[in-house]
Amino acid sequence: MEATGFAVAIMAAGKGTRLKSKRPKVLHEVGGQALLLHVIAAARTLVSAEEIYCIVGHEAERVQSAVAFTNVNFVPQQEQRGTGHAMQTLKAWFNNSSRRLPQHLLVLSGDVPLIRPETLSSLCEMHIRERAAMTILTAIPPDPTGYGRVLRSTSEPIEVEAIVEQKALQPGRYEPEINSGIYCFETEALFSNLDKLSTDNAHGEFYLTDVAAMLVAEGRRVVALKADGVDEVLGANTIAEMMHLDQAMRADVARRLMAQGVTIFRPDTCVIDAEVTIGADTVIEPYVQILGATRIGSDCRIRSFSVIQQSVLGNSVTVRNGCILDGADVGDGAVLGPYAHLRPESNIGPAAHVGNFCETKKVTLGRGSKANHLTYLGDAVIGEGVNVGAGVITCNYDGVHKHTTTIGDGAFVGSDSTLVAPISIGEGAYVAAGSCITHPVPPGALALARSQQVTKEGWAAARKAARAAKRP
Ligand code: UD1
Ligand code: CA
Repeated sequence: MEATGFAVAIMAAGKGTRLKSKRPKVLHEVGGQALLLHVIAAARTLVSAEEIYCIVGHEAERVQSAVAFTNVNFVPQQEQRGTGHAMQTLKAWFNNSSRRLPQHLLVLSGDVPLIRPETLSSLCEMHIRERAAMTILTAIPPDPTGYGRVLRSTSEPIEVEAIVEQKALQPGRYEPEINSGIYCFETEALFSNLDKLSTDNAHGEFYLTDVAAMLVAEGRRVVALKADGVDEVLGANTIAEMMHLDQAMRADVARRLMAQGVTIFRPDTCVIDAEVTIGADTVIEPYVQILGATRIGSDCRIRSFSVIQQSVLGNSVTVRNGCILDGADVGDGAVLGPYAHLRPESNIGPAAHVGNFCETKKVTLGRGSKANHLTYLGDAVIGEGVNVGAGVITCNYDGVHKHTTTIGDGAFVGSDSTLVAPISIGEGAYVAAGSCITHPVPPGALALARSQQVTKEGWAAARKAARAAKRP
């Protein structure tokens, strides 16, 4: 939906004292993405980036540079004196700018990341339908401790009386309905009350929540919408809360993927980021992590303890146990691992094999080529149908520069060979096992670069006899 007449303000200036972290709260991640980016993404479903005002303060530069690509506006709140002060700052910013005040303001909290676009549009709709001055999004969670509470009125037509912060609740009074920290305001009604806020409260801060009772006192309409889900309105103030939300978000991702035909044996043990896509009939075994914008095709099998990040896998790929992929591109039918390490720019061709304890980096391994055991392949262009023997190493680094190794189609590189780059092995050439190759090998040639073997017949018996003769 498009929310006509609305702008969105996101409060993201707080430090997040309860996290006890050096990182600003809104840059902490759930589901593999910063809290603030989740909130901006939800806001973007309603309005354009130009209509989003992000209030930043604590480590503002760091926060701004992390989300600058979204093109939202930034409003600096130098000192963070509470959510009410965040809105006072926004008001002052508008007064000093030539921008026209939006008729309505949807206010979001930078630390409530699971909010669904559908819920936000219901909130905006209700706000307009009810001609309200303020519309509060609420929920009734199993444990409301720590949240502000929405006090509903029993005397019609007043719907909401006030929002009371946890610390101001009368002792023993149980109020189950929490304030999510997400509201719609008629901008004029909000801005005209901000000057009346005081810091006369437990935190010594300007509370935005106090505006509710002020509007009611003016005879303005304040209403509340209860969200369908509870998790979507929960805040992330502590690491424990953050991890609860992370789990909830990943459970959603796993459910979505399973609905698309992916088998995930033990979703509770897997860490799968929200951007990940996986084709039908792919099987994910327990204890797998799939991160970033990774794309995995159909009919793949990802075995336990593999960590796949920012990679693209075709169809019918087998990733055996314990593989690490970062920035890899893997063709259809390839087989990896167990315990393979594919570093950035590893392009593994269709039906190629990268086996036990093999490391690749900036490498092209052609169709059907195999490096099955104990190998390092870095800065190499390897053709099709190449056999790379056990223990082969491309010596790509001379201590100053990186150099390239080229291996032609159908070449056979014997075990335990070292290929000192820059070097090329021609098509169909053979490198004898144990060779240290420093000169180019032409196509079809055999290169042997190891010392001649010396064999001494009967040496062991002769030695034994010589030692026996010496004994007293
Ligand atoms: C706030 C609400 C509480 C509600 C809860 C929901 C108030 C007074 N209380 O409490 O009723 O139940 O959210 O999650 O509003 N921020 C600024 N500038 C500031 C202070 C805060 O931008 O000066 C930002 C924070 O970065 C955060 C958001 O506002 O993203 C909420 O602030 P926080 O301190 O977390 O408020 P709560 O104590 O959670
Ligand atoms: Ca909070």
